[in-house]
Amino acid sequence: MRPEADALPDTLGCAVAGKVPGKYTCLTWMPRFETQKFAMAPYHIRQYQDSDQKRVWDLFIRGMEEHIPATFRHLLILPRTLFLLLGLPLAMVLVSGSWLLAAMSIFFVLLLMKLLARQPWKEYVAKCLHTDMADITKSYMSARGSCFWVAESGGELVGTVGGLPVKDPPLGRKQLELFHLSVSSQHRGQGIAKALTRTLLQFARDQGYSDVVLDTSILQKSAHALYMSMGFQKTGQYFMGAFWRLVDIPAIQFKHSFPSA
Ligand SMILES: CC(C)(COP(=O)(O)OP(=O)(O)OC[C@H]1O[C@@H](n2cnc3c(N)ncnc32)[C@H](O)[C@@H]1OP(=O)(O)O)[C@@H](O)C(=O)NCCC(=O)NCCS
Repeated sequence: MRPEADALPDTLGCAVAGKVPGKYTCLTWMPRFETQKFAMAPYHIRQYQDSDQKRVWDLFIRGMEEHIPATFRHLLILPRTLFLLLGLPLAMVLVSGSWLLAAMSIFFVLLLMKLLARQPWKEYVAKCLHTDMADITKSYMSARGSCFWVAESGGELVGTVGGLPVKDPPLGRKQLELFHLSVSSQHRGQGIAKALTRTLLQFARDQGYSDVVLDTSILQKSAHALYMSMGFQKTGQYFMGAFWRLVDIPAIQFKHSFPSA
């Protein structure tokens, strides 16, 4: 069920850490946020600072590249891959009579699939590191209506999320796009991603946005469950580029609209 806007920030209660007064526009927004669950390492959420950059990159890259094995498995069960895995060795045996060549062709197809599975994620990471993630302060912290947050636990940076205004929203809408939600694998299942998303939703509501939108891939199942549980709805799907089409992994679009919008 979609939560009402008033029910969103049930964990918003304390002052956020890491405020740098007056420097960045988004820092003038003062969320009341601190959350943790019982029997788990405490964590808190604060706004991004320049010194976080390396760790944020690291979390982002790991969070994306961890989907490469699932992409490989997804590729293996595509009909066209099964056709290649069966057809190529058979053709080799029929043409050359060599079982060695047949075995080598299977190895070759598997190697090709392994390389192909890496490509869309590597390409996406490289693109981000050359665009919005190249200078996070410049991209997210210097304009009104955008921001980037990190979650810290035990002095370690363990989660990230950012939001940028959509350049060409539908007529009459003001939309914030969620980017780079990621939590370190050692700190998952503690509600950190949920808390980061709530922070962004609260920010969007306070800044007068009508919707929060985001794109994710069909493989990111944990993220889907998270977004659905937080009132996002699927609005469409598309291929982000040639490699995504080749590996048959569409992006799914999600939207969270505020009730008063
Ligand atoms: C998706 C991700 C951010 C979730 O982080 P997390 O801190 O473990 O998530 P939370 O503990 O806040 O869980 C929130 C909700 O997400 C869903 N969820 C999280 N992990 C899940 C899993 N492994 N399986 C199913 N649902 C899951 C659940 O609905 C959960 O709510 P619940 O605990 O009340 O059931 C994390 O797995 C991640 O960083 N993945 C790699 C990067 C990535 O794919 N990011 C998404 C970009 S769109």
